[in-house]
Formats: sequence, C-alpha cells, structure tokens
Amino acid sequence: MDTVKLKEIFKHIYETGEPATFFAPGRVNMIGEHTDYNGGFVLPCALSFGTYLLIRSNGGNSIRLATTNFEYRAEVTFDQPTQKQGNEWVNYPLGVIDQFLKRGIPMKGFDMLYSGDIPNGAGLSSSASIEVVTAVALDEMLKSELNRIEIVKMSRAAENEFVGMNCGIMDQFAIGMGKTNSAIFLNCRTLNYELVPMDIEGYSIVIANTNKRRELADSKYNERVAECSAALADLRKARPMIDLSDMNLREFIENQHLIPDETIRRRAHHVISENERVKKAVSALRFGDLVTFGQLMNQSHQSLKEDYEVTGFELDTIVSHAQLADGVLGARMTGAGFGGCSVNIVRYGSIDNFIADVGEYYTDYTGLTAEFYIASLGDGAGSLM
Ligand code: GLA
Repeated sequence: MDTVKLKEIFKHIYETGEPATFFAPGRVNMIGEHTDYNGGFVLPCALSFGTYLLIRSNGGNSIRLATTNFEYRAEVTFDQPTQKQGNEWVNYPLGVIDQFLKRGIPMKGFDMLYSGDIPNGAGLSSSASIEVVTAVALDEMLKSELNRIEIVKMSRAAENEFVGMNCGIMDQFAIGMGKTNSAIFLNCRTLNYELVPMDIEGYSIVIANTNKRRELADSKYNERVAECSAALADLRKARPMIDLSDMNLREFIENQHLIPDETIRRRAHHVISENERVKKAVSALRFGDLVTFGQLMNQSHQSLKEDYEVTGFELDTIVSHAQLADGVLGARMTGAGFGGCSVNIVRYGSIDNFIADVGEYYTDYTGLTAEFYIASLGDGAGSLM
C-alpha cells in the first residue's frame, strides 16, 4: 500500500495537514475454529496485509470517517451516545469509539481515513483489523496508555456490543499481538499464549478465497454460539463447568448422552475434539512434523463440515480437491466459514500447479473464480512512524 498516496488523499478529503499513520494486519487461523468463544485453543497468525488508518486531530467535537474501500462516509459528534449506522463499515470504528466513551476516556475530534487490502468478507478478519487499528490509533492520539490486551478486549467488545456479532477473541488477539513468522497458540479462557515459530521450510501457506459471499454468516454464527451454550447447559449435569472446553474428549464421550439433541451433541463434539487437534498440531509444529500438522488440518475441516456444519458447497469443493493435490500437506477452511477462505500448506515447487489445478476444478464445479494469496506472516498492529 502506498502511504504517500494515502496521505495525499487524506489531505484532499479533509483539506488539512499531515496525518499520523497506523496499521493493523488481517489474520489467518491455522487450526482451532469456533473454539475461542468456548474458552478453547486457537492457532492464528497475523498476515502482512491489513488496514491502514491515517488520523489527525481536527480541534472540533466531531469525528469524520472515510475509507478508500467504500463510498460511505460519516461524521459523528461524541457528546451524545454513538448510533449504529445500518450495516455500514463505520460501525466497526464507531463501536471502538463507543468503548473509549464507556470507559470515560475523554474523546477529541479527529479526521480519519481508512484503507484496507484485505479482501472483504473473506474470513481474514477485515472487520477486526479495522477495530484494532482504530483502538491502537485512538489510544496513542488520546494518550490513554491502555495496555495491548485491553485494546484487544475493547476491540472485541466493539463487535459484540455495538455490531452485534458474538465473536470470540481470536481475531482481535492475533491482530493485536501477532509476530512475524509466528503463530499464536492462545488459550482463549485465560489469554495465556505462546508464540510458535511457523517453521515450514520448503512449504508456503497458501490462502484460497472461494469468493463466495458469506450470506447470513453473522446470524448463523450467533446460532452456533447459542448451540454451544445449550450443549454446555446439558453437560453441566455431569459437573460444574465454565465453558465447553472444560471437558476433554474422553470425558465428553462418557457424558455425551446428557445432550439429548443430536445436532447440539455434534456441535459440542466439534469444539472438544478441535481443542485436542490444536494441542497436537502445536506439538507437531514444534517437532517439525508438518505431515501430522497437515493431517490435523484435514481432520479439522472434516469436523467443521460434519459436526459443526459451517463449511458449505464452495469451501468443501475447494478443500476436498486441495487435500488431494500434489505437494499439499493439509487444507481446511479458516475463519467463521459459510464461504470465505481456505488455508493450505503447499510445497514451494508445487504452488503454481496447485493454483492452476485447484482453481480450474473449483470453477468447473461452482462457476465461481477463486483467488489465491501466498501468505506472509507479519507483526501485530502499530504506528507506522
Ligand atoms: C470469526 C470470529 C472468531 C472465531 C472464528 C471461528 O472469525 O470473529 O472469534 O470464532 O470466526 O473460529
């Protein structure tokens, strides 16, 4: 992204001087899907593409928001409660501003210009990236000296309380805390984490975007969150539990009869088995056993398809073919699902063939055109100067 050009656009829109520049990445999750809001384990990485935010105090009592990605702009005053604006992108920054106001942090007037190079709705966390870049920038501009974990929590709260998506903490955490060439092994209950080097020499992380719009994704996502709560309520007949991740797989199998509804039982089975896969995948990565790591990715997809039912025709088509392609160690959907992207570990020498072969097969079966990105893993959010 050309930040010099962005600064010119900023000065043109707001007819003002030099802004400060901030950046927050997108994320790709290697394994551990739909476990975060169940107090479980995840293994995401920050990407090198993301969202830029140019910001400058305007000395007034309003915040003006614009982006190079959409036409829609907004101006809000902060002496009254922030209002949600339809389904517009501004709800993500507005939700973050709302969090600052709720904490009693004195607000100031700002002009803000966003620019993102994360494909929208692809499940690579463009929304969390906007939230975290907003929180990091406001923290610095307002000198509120929040610690990074607090910024991560406020960004998630913006999504839960303002946007109305009951997401877990994985995306905001990865975006706030990521490190180059590392995955974050995070316990979403305690927020204890370890950086695990993504030593995959000879291989690359290839992201395949199905370009399938994630219709109704938010409502189906919230439905899964509710189904997990129902499973938890049933399993609490066995013993006190804080969340589903309190049970390991063996204990779940002994107690699954406590969940009368077959669908709800499968949801819980996914979450609990996925936690075990994440732990095994981290060990495999540490031992340099990429074959096992890849097999666990494949198993994760299967579980998300059969037990959790968040994959769908397009993701299943692209993943099933990728898993069989030459030079591929593992392939699975990444993010919330219902469309979006898959993540694949592909041998260097096979990448061109992989893209050509999987792309062609996918188009033949779905009529859609997939896009492929070779992921490079970057740092978490911060100031660019
Ligand atoms: C979305 C949410 C995350 C997480 C994933 C699924 O990305 O924002 O909190 O639940 O889906 O693992």
